[in-house]
Amino acid sequence: MDRIRKALDLARLERSQPSEVESHEGNVRELPAELLTKPRAAPPPITYTRTKVFSPAAEVLERNRIVNPGSREEAAVAFRMLRTQVLQRMNAHGWRSLAVFSPCAEDGKTTTAINLAVSLANDHLHTAVLVDFDFKHPTVASRVGLAPVLGSDDAISHRAAVEDCLYHPEGFDRLVLFPARAPLSHSSELLAGPRSREIVSELRSRYPDRIIIYDLPPVLTADDALAFAPLVECGLVVASEGRTRRDDLVRTVELLEKTPIVGTVLNRAVDAVSGY
Ligand SMILES: Nc1ncnc2c1ncn2[C@@H]1O[C@H](COP(=O)(O)OP(=O)(O)OP(=O)(O)O)[C@@H](O)[C@H]1O
Ligand SMILES: [Mg+2]
Repeated sequence: MDRIRKALDLARLERSQPSEVESHEGNVRELPAELLTKPRAAPPPITYTRTKVFSPAAEVLERNRIVNPGSREEAAVAFRMLRTQVLQRMNAHGWRSLAVFSPCAEDGKTTTAINLAVSLANDHLHTAVLVDFDFKHPTVASRVGLAPVLGSDDAISHRAAVEDCLYHPEGFDRLVLFPARAPLSHSSELLAGPRSREIVSELRSRYPDRIIIYDLPPVLTADDALAFAPLVECGLVVASEGRTRRDDLVRTVELLEKTPIVGTVLNRAVDAVSGY
């Protein structure tokens, strides 16, 4: 426990970041997101035309640790606090794209990415697009019980237009998923390539009010995350208690030196009531 916390502290120190999100610690005041943004009217309700609408089954979401964003469950509260801090830092810089990083596989990146996107979209002032750019082990679709016909793997391989790969989960207003259908070889080259840039800028310009969250492979086991990092404005680093080695975490933060880190999440914390 102390080991990882110390490593996270060290990571912050090295990056000269302010105190970061450890949502389970209970030392973060949950501010209404409205206070963190310029006062403005809520966006009008979205009518999905080309975006495909699907109905995720409640038991699939529950099994896959997707929280009900408005509930009073500990995990939902933790993700609302994470949302608040991430938004605060992103708004301060006018950033709208964020990638979720972690040192190794199974640290909890996808779980964090989905729940953060769900929580962001649940705030009526924000809409969110969750992009699965983990072409080593794409799991966003299966975690919500979706079998996409076309996905981000098709879009980045020039087989599909972005707008044909977007899905809206019913019941999650203002949330759009851009899931991957299948893994890809040569994914780091694709992620660093011109089509990837085109997609990133299309997502930004098509949805000016949206926060775009990218789920990526682990930083230390493939070069995909580092290849893509220059295309996002900021990152969130996930570490997993009992799994993440301190040296791996420090190395991860060092490798991401040019990407501003707006928060850290200690997943599977034993002292967290929720386990997040
Ligand atoms: N806090 C937690 N407690 C228990 N299980 C968890 C927790 N967070 C995630 N898991 C489970 O651990 C597994 C890995 O989580 P997740 O897919 O989010 O990790 P990941 O970092 O995206 O992995 P990969 O690098 O393989 O994509 C999943 O089965 C998920 O349900
Ligand atoms: Mg994942």
